[in-house]
Amino acid sequence: GKVLLAYSGGLDTSTILAWLIDEGYDVVTFMANVGQIEDFEVARNKALKCGAKEFILEDMRREFIEELIYPAVQVNAIYEDTYLLGTSLARPVIARGMIEAAARTGCEYVAHGCTGKGNDQVRFELAFYGLKPDIKVIAPWRMAEFYNRFAGRTALLDYAASKGIPVTQSKAKPWSTDENAMHCSYEAGILEDPDHTPPEDMWGLIKSPEAAPDTPEKIVITFTTGIPTKVKIGSNGKEVTDAVEIFDTLNLLAREHGIGRIDIVENRLLGLKSRGCYETPAGTILRTAHIALEGLVMDKELRKLRDAMLSKSFSQQLYDGLYYSAECEFVRSCIPASQKNVNGDVRLKLYKGNTIVEGRSSSETLYSADAASMDVVEGFDVEAAGGFIATSSIRLKAHGVNQTRKGLGG
Ligand code: ARG
Ligand code: SIN
Repeated sequence: GKVLLAYSGGLDTSTILAWLIDEGYDVVTFMANVGQIEDFEVARNKALKCGAKEFILEDMRREFIEELIYPAVQVNAIYEDTYLLGTSLARPVIARGMIEAAARTGCEYVAHGCTGKGNDQVRFELAFYGLKPDIKVIAPWRMAEFYNRFAGRTALLDYAASKGIPVTQSKAKPWSTDENAMHCSYEAGILEDPDHTPPEDMWGLIKSPEAAPDTPEKIVITFTTGIPTKVKIGSNGKEVTDAVEIFDTLNLLAREHGIGRIDIVENRLLGLKSRGCYETPAGTILRTAHIALEGLVMDKELRKLRDAMLSKSFSQQLYDGLYYSAECEFVRSCIPASQKNVNGDVRLKLYKGNTIVEGRSSSETLYSADAASMDVVEGFDVEAAGGFIATSSIRLKAHGVNQTRKGLGG
């Protein structure tokens, strides 16, 4: 049979590649460019050297940003109040790239190197089945003949040596990473102790706030229907409008100014808790800016409904690998409807780990300075507020009477 393998160029997937060949498969290797910093030529040469029939590199940055990250920005997606879903968001795009490449190259199987304890196996496989219900999946880390044979690094290294697989890791990092345009993750190894402070040199993208410049950078982000469509940089007046360029620009600025480091103990899909450290530079700025603009233009009850119905659902669906589900299709179709008025500019100051909102403006503002002002009486019927309190208090008085009767008042 013919297999399409999600290939990372690392020791695990190179071993899986050689092992699949041993098992009699023809293997096509697949790599998605989702904005990770990577030498794709090195990966290509390594895959072919390990015996891959083909190496497919798909540039998926634009669809990742426009189709996955932007809806996440629009809905203020976040998992367990902390994680901005950088890995979760990339999976549906990579899975789609794999299924399309499998069809093109005549592969009846797809394979991946995710562990049997993690979230990614679930995300990839649910996406595969959603996109191509009859696809056959090979998950070596869940197969006894594989995980028993390759338990421990030395078994992997011995096998790699016997197969002539170059082990490029100069000094093996004591954690596992996953990188794309949205984030870089660090998990496992020394991070498994949730009280172990991550070493400073782990953070590969973002400067520490202490090392960030003393001079802040000021930027203006323009949103159109909740999507960033322009970034203007204060220090040089430069403007960018292309989605990929906007992301690259915000990533560089946030990294320089120490913005976007996250450290969380999260609840994984399978019930385990896991400690993760994540760097989400642009995503952190965009979240702050988008929320600031919504404050100005979004209707109060629409916001409540969106927060309760869309933000939580979308975040959980992405975390749980349910992007290609009926419920996620429904939620995704609702997101644009919540963002019709989210048009305008947010002015920000980036300074030592902080994204500081300095102002916001919009032609669609719902804010009335006159109505809200503490200095003028016009523009708002203050006597009506008395009626509002009187009506609202009916219920509270009834509750108070009952509490007093039971001796619980006060
Ligand atoms: N815990 C995060 C998540 O579930 C990050 C996973 C990182 N994945 C990886 N293959 N290293 O989304
Ligand atoms: C893995 O287990 O393969 C990575 C971590 C995760 O998927 O949660």
